[in-house]
Amino acid sequence: MTAALIGVGVGPGDPELVTVRALNALRAADRVVAPSLAVDAVGRAESIVRGAAPDVDVERVVFAMTAGPERQAAMTEVVGRLLAWLGDGEVVAFATLGDPNVYSTFSSVAEGVRAARPDVPIRTVPGIMAFQDLAARSGTVVLDGTQSLALVTALDGTADVEAALADPTRAVVVYKGGRHLPEIAKRLADAGRLDGAMVGELLGLPGQRLAPVADVADRPATYLATVIVPPGPPAVTR
Ligand SMILES: C[S@@+](CC[C@H](N)C(=O)[O-])C[C@H]1O[C@@H](n2cnc3c(N)ncnc32)[C@H](O)[C@@H]1O
Repeated sequence: MTAALIGVGVGPGDPELVTVRALNALRAADRVVAPSLAVDAVGRAESIVRGAAPDVDVERVVFAMTAGPERQAAMTEVVGRLLAWLGDGEVVAFATLGDPNVYSTFSSVAEGVRAARPDVPIRTVPGIMAFQDLAARSGTVVLDGTQSLALVTALDGTADVEAALADPTRAVVVYKGGRHLPEIAKRLADAGRLDGAMVGELLGLPGQRLAPVADVADRPATYLATVIVPPGPPAVTR
């Protein structure tokens, strides 16, 4: 019995950004699963796997993306299916967008599996993250020297963005903030950090858009949008 659960990061969208290690893990698994919103809807991770490895068969596991009891019920059901396959001794690869250890459904799935089957090994394969792809595509240097980075979300508002901007020399990456893009732009303008801030939407996917935040902040972007705010200049001290 060699059962194992492996969270495989497949990058943000472009199949060329799936690593060799991820491809090897997907091909070596007994079963590859990917999250989706419905049994007949191809999720992002599945479409990336289809592009990068058409030979790999992907099985959908359905998650409700709402808050509340439906989400928990869906999670319980997915974990139950995984436990059944793992109980049969399968190596199951769970494909997930970007990196499996950063804001990923995989962490909750792994927690559920670990609680029921602490003996089953759980591993992850790192994936390229959306902000790295955005930095490369937009020619943005995110960090240099001893600068630091704050990675924050703005799903429910921009309080964390504002807090991260308190240090003018810190780079800020904002995930899950598409809906609040106009408010994020205002925060950046107030902090004198709008210049150089870039937004990438649907990176590597159909409909990709890359633009300075200042040019597109008159309306919300999609959920799959990432903002990079490069570090500001160090304060001048005399
Ligand atoms: C649930 S998090 C997944 C993060 C992912 N695990 C990672 O490592 O990049 C979803 C957020 O990641 C960012 N994201 C992921 N894929 C993206 C893409 N293709 N284009 C732009 N942003 C993306 C967006 O900020 C989105 O709201």
